[in-house]
Amino acid sequence: IIARNAKKETRNIAQKLEESDKHLVIFWGSQSGTAEGFANRLARECHLRFGLEVMAADLSDYDPETIALIPPTKFAIFIMSTFGEGDPSDNSGAFWEWLLKSPNTTVASLRYMAFGLGNSNYKYYNRVIDVVVEALDKFGARRLMAVGRADDAEGATEEDFMAWKNDLFSVFRKDLQLEEREVAHEPIIAVVEDDSLQPIDLHHGEPAHQRDNVKSAAASSPIKSLSVQNSRELFSSSLRRCIHMELDLNDRPELHYKTGDHLAVWPTNPDVEVERLLRALGLSERRDIPISIKSLDPTVKVQVPTPTTTSVLFRYYLEICCPVSRDTILSLAKFAPTAAAKSYLTTLGQDKTAYAAFLTHTHLNIGRLLELSTSGDPNMIWSNLPLSYLIETLPRTQPRYYSISSSSVISPRAPSITALVSTSSLPNAPTSLVHGLATNYLLALSQSLTKAGSQPHPHGLTYNLTGPSNALEGGKIFAHIRKSKFKLPVLASCPLIMAAAGTGLAPFRAFITERVRLKSMGKPVGKMILFFGCRHPDEDFIYKAELEEMEKVLEGKLRIVTAFSRVQGEKRVYVQDRMQEMSTDVLRLMSEGANFYICGRASMAREVGKRVGEAMGKTNGWTEQEVKEWSEGVKRRAKWQEDVWG
Ligand code: 2AM
Repeated sequence: IIARNAKKETRNIAQKLEESDKHLVIFWGSQSGTAEGFANRLARECHLRFGLEVMAADLSDYDPETIALIPPTKFAIFIMSTFGEGDPSDNSGAFWEWLLKSPNTTVASLRYMAFGLGNSNYKYYNRVIDVVVEALDKFGARRLMAVGRADDAEGATEEDFMAWKNDLFSVFRKDLQLEEREVAHEPIIAVVEDDSLQPIDLHHGEPAHQRDNVKSAAASSPIKSLSVQNSRELFSSSLRRCIHMELDLNDRPELHYKTGDHLAVWPTNPDVEVERLLRALGLSERRDIPISIKSLDPTVKVQVPTPTTTSVLFRYYLEICCPVSRDTILSLAKFAPTAAAKSYLTTLGQDKTAYAAFLTHTHLNIGRLLELSTSGDPNMIWSNLPLSYLIETLPRTQPRYYSISSSSVISPRAPSITALVSTSSLPNAPTSLVHGLATNYLLALSQSLTKAGSQPHPHGLTYNLTGPSNALEGGKIFAHIRKSKFKLPVLASCPLIMAAAGTGLAPFRAFITERVRLKSMGKPVGKMILFFGCRHPDEDFIYKAELEEMEKVLEGKLRIVTAFSRVQGEKRVYVQDRMQEMSTDVLRLMSEGANFYICGRASMAREVGKRVGEAMGKTNGWTEQEVKEWSEGVKRRAKWQEDVWG
């Protein structure tokens, strides 16, 4: 007798739709989870409002050519993000290749809509959705409405999505003649308490596995808990601190890094927010009871580790500190414990302008929203709000990425990160502080490990790291290493031009230390110019002494050019201004074969690219088109590399 294997999931989307009796598939291509979250939320809303049978689908779970088999009685929505240099997300790699490499395909029976997520601070704004739509249209697919595009540059992604969703729903009503029905809640996952589960059966904070598609598995190490070997503050003022933290890989043989890679840190939510949410839901007493989370729909996967407990769920697995979207506020109203709370949520959620104004003075995470809507009355419990709703709705915790600031040649088992502990105040409430999630946790860890252990966290945040079988006991972090293409040239004699603002200095610290080592071994080292921008030479010039020492040791091979933006009485100067002033030197070094590197915010990288392009054009008498071609060429040949964020 042959044991029957668990039925293998089909990779044919048309077959999957047929088997699961679904009418609409919402494909997502997502890197950091936003597009995925939109797809899941939209799937639920299409079902609740229009009674459609819908599934959200990870593009990498299906063979792309099977999209052509979706019959004209059904339809598809593509929600896809663009990141970096106009690249698709890892999970859309195979779909992308198929689109670009199958020019003679036809998908004539497909009816679809499309929404893209991008950031206009990047050069290839929303390129992915544009390429997808162009290809599908060429293949003969029928697009049912204009393409939607979100722009994160102004933080408008959520509003752009809501506006497009409104248009989508009018197409549903008018063109597809779908009837709207009364919105009711229908859970798609179930949460069951189960006292028979023992602590050893439960998940205590280890992150859910990353998507196991081939490309991302090759680009990332497994996630492990790591000890902190060493940590110090590089500068500290009341609202800005910067920490240098070295992790210990000695007992983690599975983890390796190379200079220029990223360390991904899985954050922990602070106690105060975990407690606030437990209290609002009336779950404080039941926080440690084991719960199992199960999917009620075969096309929906539970995204958090299960079984676990509610307190672990809120501490590690859900993003409970991020602002609540208007969409979510409106959908929460139906669970409100009082008529007043319901009206509070409806008023806040319905008015885009009022909501935006509200956010300028209140940091609105889920726990605070529940509290505010019941006027902070501690006796008012949201007992009708099911835990399953929060698991379906809140984003699951995503890692935060840091450029590694050590060289793998010099410290192969001790990667370091350089993190600005971000705390900002709200524009219209200077005393309301918003704390960066991962960095404040790193700061608390750093403090608990140093002599400052007895020193309280500057913003009073505490993190429970001791619970039963807590894998982080003793002050560890969950982390993994992500490979990057931001790499030193093979030839040590190749000149380098580096541009950094703030903690963007991190990988260049590694680059320069590596070159110092090469020089000490007698290798000829190429010329380097480092452009570094910060606010003030005495405030946030990180690694200053170290850099100056290396400048000496390198005997003229390294030149450090600084740009300070907040020196009183002086003009605000940025790295791109310095680069423009020194364009003759920059261009000369490039003509000698220099590699060009930028690390920092995308807006800075864009400015630097623009100024250098202008200088190139002017010197060579190029047209705009020629400058563009040059810029694309150097990027393609990896002579120009960027490691940038938001
Ligand atoms: P700021 O004082 O205007 O914020 C690190 O944060 C440094 O980068 C600061 O000096 C900061 O200047 C600067 N910075 C901010 N935006 C920038 C941009 N678009 N281009 C270059 N530097 C920038």
